[in-house]
Amino acid sequence: MRALDKTLRTIVVWLVTDSPLTAQRQIGRTRMLQPAVDACHHATLERSRMHSQPIPRLLTERLVLRPFAISDGPAVERLAGAREVADTTLSIPHPYPTGGGAAWIALHAGIWARDAGVALAICPRAAVDDPIGAISLQISRPHSHGELGYWIGLADWGRGYATEAARALTAYAFTTLALHRVQGRHFVRNPASGRVLQKLGMRFEGIHREAYSRWNRFEDVAVYSLLSREWTNDSVMQAP
Ligand SMILES: CC(C)(COP(=O)(O)OP(=O)(O)OC[C@H]1O[C@@H](n2cnc3c(N)ncnc32)[C@H](O)[C@@H]1OP(=O)(O)O)[C@@H](O)C(=O)NCCC(=O)NCCS
Repeated sequence: MRALDKTLRTIVVWLVTDSPLTAQRQIGRTRMLQPAVDACHHATLERSRMHSQPIPRLLTERLVLRPFAISDGPAVERLAGAREVADTTLSIPHPYPTGGGAAWIALHAGIWARDAGVALAICPRAAVDDPIGAISLQISRPHSHGELGYWIGLADWGRGYATEAARALTAYAFTTLALHRVQGRHFVRNPASGRVLQKLGMRFEGIHREAYSRWNRFEDVAVYSLLSREWTNDSVMQAP
């Protein structure tokens, strides 16, 4: 029950993980910061909005990125439940509790409605009912930035799916969401995630030393970003 409760609070993603921050931590931060934000950035807050549109559905060459359905819960538990997937994320629980997938998915509508983020199931075009992973963008409207998070089920690693999904969500962030900056962070011991961010054309900003703790071990975290003025539709092609 405690594990499920923890999962319930696990929010989408940063996804040095995917979900580096728990919902509880986020709520705590919001409570701490909100008064100052209200006082100093009222105009900015007025610009923030509630989404009345449904969670988007994005198409790529090989993939459909679609809203999660509650019925995807067991697939989330099976795929994200692999130790290899959870290991390099900040807060995917392990073992993944039964019912935790549906509980996590149930948070998505509210997060989207508050304009605080979006999480999408990554599905092959040929099997849109069968997620192979997840991608998310955690949004900060006051600062006009978003942070990517993603994971792919172990069986589909190395096929370019994370890059393809991240490219589409980044385009959506700069166009439809009109964000100024998209960033990504990853554990230094997870170079595959760094490679995904590089292939998006992101700029390496540096290392936050021992910034987060995972499995009782402090992790160095690499930071990448792309600004709207740097982004082009073919920035992937320009990446080294
Ligand atoms: C990180 C992750 C999402 C990558 O997914 P993926 O679909 O395999 O990624 P892609 O195929 O799009 O790209 C992976 C790239 O990393 C490279 N790569 C893989 N392992 C690597 C390693 N050990 N060192 C360096 N590069 C590596 C691949 O060669 C590929 O680059 P290339 O196209 O230039 O050859 C996947 O491994 C995963 O889900 N990991 C667990 C969860 C996680 O860590 N999420 C990210 C948290 S920040």
